[in-house]
Amino acid sequence: MTIEITTRHPIGAQVRGVRVGPLDPTVVAHLRALLAVHGVLVLPGQRVDDEDFVRFLQSFGELVFTTGETPVPHAPLLNVITNVGRTRAPRSSFHVDTSYLRCPPAYTALRAVTVPECGGHTLFTNQFNAYDTLPRDVQARIRQRVVTHVVTGLDLDEGAETSAQHPLVLRHPLSGRTALYLSTRQRCREVSGMAPEAAAELIDELLTHSTRPDNVFRHQWQPDDVVIWDNRCVMHKADHDGVVGDRVMHRGTVVDRAAWR
Ligand code: SIN
Repeated sequence: MTIEITTRHPIGAQVRGVRVGPLDPTVVAHLRALLAVHGVLVLPGQRVDDEDFVRFLQSFGELVFTTGETPVPHAPLLNVITNVGRTRAPRSSFHVDTSYLRCPPAYTALRAVTVPECGGHTLFTNQFNAYDTLPRDVQARIRQRVVTHVVTGLDLDEGAETSAQHPLVLRHPLSGRTALYLSTRQRCREVSGMAPEAAAELIDELLTHSTRPDNVFRHQWQPDDVVIWDNRCVMHKADHDGVVGDRVMHRGTVVDRAAWR
């Protein structure tokens, strides 16, 4: 079967012709290359179970569980994201996944288990664009900066990794394109060579710039969607406002130790 791509604006692509399950290495190489350019791939119509989803993700690399999250009972490498039984909507801000690790996941994917009647979309920013559209002097000012990312909002065991340093400006190892690598203000604790107030101000400015509406792709979930994204070039967040009905997603993250960045 041929792989058909329909691009989305300002980032993302819909992919048809790939079944979620164990993949041939040539298909994986093709999808990795697409992710390195389009950032987010939406695979609609995937009537698959968690075993297929796990094998699909393992085709890309080592599936790692985020300590502190809630595992899927019969698929402990995945975690569940659900609003079922919650009286208040969760809060979410744009972020990249587990950037407090030295080698954070290159890829994250969600499988739609239950899609709400209304709302519950996932939003993605284009971090290539975010960098490209910065004024030249700002690009020059931030190019060599290193950010200290720290864990927030998770109860971790003693001895767990809680902090890591990453360049603010990343060159994607596959596409060679330059992206802003950021997470929430709380997670971006320090910026090299800057006083705390100036660093917080810079992170706020870059977050505002990255998340302006014309730089955001909104994915409206359909039953049987699987979505995978590349944390090296997009930030994401769930939009929990005005959700009507149950929303259940199963989530997996994949590290790429050979070519994280
Ligand atoms: C996440 O933040 O990793 C999950 C996003 C979502 O539930 O849409």
